[in-house]
Amino acid sequence: MFLCILFFCSLTVTGARTAKADPGSLASTYQPQLKIGVAVGESLWSDSERATRILCEREYNSSTPENFLKWDAVQPEPGKFNWAAPDRWVQWGEQHQLQLVGHVLVWHQQTPDWVFRDDSAAPRGRDSLHALLRNHIATVVGRYRGRIDIWDVVNEAIEDDGSRRDSPWLQILGDNYVADAFQLAHQADPTARLLYNDYNVWMPEKRAGIIRLLQEVRSSGAPVHGIGMQGHWGLHYPTVEELQSTLKSFSELNFEIHITELDITVLPDPSSIPTADIASHFDYNETMDPYQEGLPPELSDQLATRYEQLFKVFLEFPEVVRVTFWGATDKLSWRNDFPISGRTDHPLLFDRAGQPKKAYKALLRLRQ
Ligand code: XIL
Repeated sequence: MFLCILFFCSLTVTGARTAKADPGSLASTYQPQLKIGVAVGESLWSDSERATRILCEREYNSSTPENFLKWDAVQPEPGKFNWAAPDRWVQWGEQHQLQLVGHVLVWHQQTPDWVFRDDSAAPRGRDSLHALLRNHIATVVGRYRGRIDIWDVVNEAIEDDGSRRDSPWLQILGDNYVADAFQLAHQADPTARLLYNDYNVWMPEKRAGIIRLLQEVRSSGAPVHGIGMQGHWGLHYPTVEELQSTLKSFSELNFEIHITELDITVLPDPSSIPTADIASHFDYNETMDPYQEGLPPELSDQLATRYEQLFKVFLEFPEVVRVTFWGATDKLSWRNDFPISGRTDHPLLFDRAGQPKKAYKALLRLRQ
């Protein structure tokens, strides 16, 4: 019996090691400098996405849930928690030795109305909302204490002009809610790395606002370990210079830098100001959806060059410790529905059939 257990354990350990040592993979190519992550949804465990799951196990060594740890998914009603999807993801991640990133504890989106309004639909008072926040963080972070390595604690609390976002969190709890959330997350798991996550971090005014906020959190005594730059970018923005100066300013302040949600849209932008605010929406028209039949070779080359250019910059900064792609394959990307629904985008490293694109090969070549 004992020998059997020993044999089984050694098989499991060896199996996992072999998977991570896969010499051709993205993860092994960039270790030890960068973890390479992937956002996943519950569909990863459906029969039709079995090949994608195997792809994720082979190519990545970090993972983030795309939606199932957001408040509306994990606690849709007061005190009713949905653990099935996150439990399965945590077990899967441990089995494949993935670094696990929890997304997200405090956000103004994908948060049920009852969080901000009481039974009679009146806005909650400060104490009532604070109690909900405390319980949510303690319950969710506490359940995976020592198992989820990194948390996106607060998402998108700063506007593009650098001011504080006027969300119900700010309106009801006041300026200190960000520091409070970090303190609560730290109490629930003192070993977790805690991040502030946002889009358009490369815009100078927004970046300055984020830095002011993180300095405030730091001086309150709550630990904030790093910045999560979402990375929903395009072929031409941010420029190399904009990215370099952003990474430089966070590295000088000793923040870890995580690129948390990378994807590069190749589609025309319906607005002159880029955004990843999920509230933005534009109507569909065919001219905005030019690559329904596939990515033309010249764009495929451009995307490869763009990814190569970005990774060269990431590698210049030892403070950049992780790059997570927001989805495994083009078929699964939220970009097909944002900011216009029903388009065919090609923003990731693997195409709709799960085949590696030129961009994938370029990223492997960059380190050879
Ligand atoms: C997106 C998901 O990818 C979509 O499936 C969902 O419908 C909306 O949210 N910034 C974030 C992510 O922090 O949580 C968002 O994810 C994309 C923008």
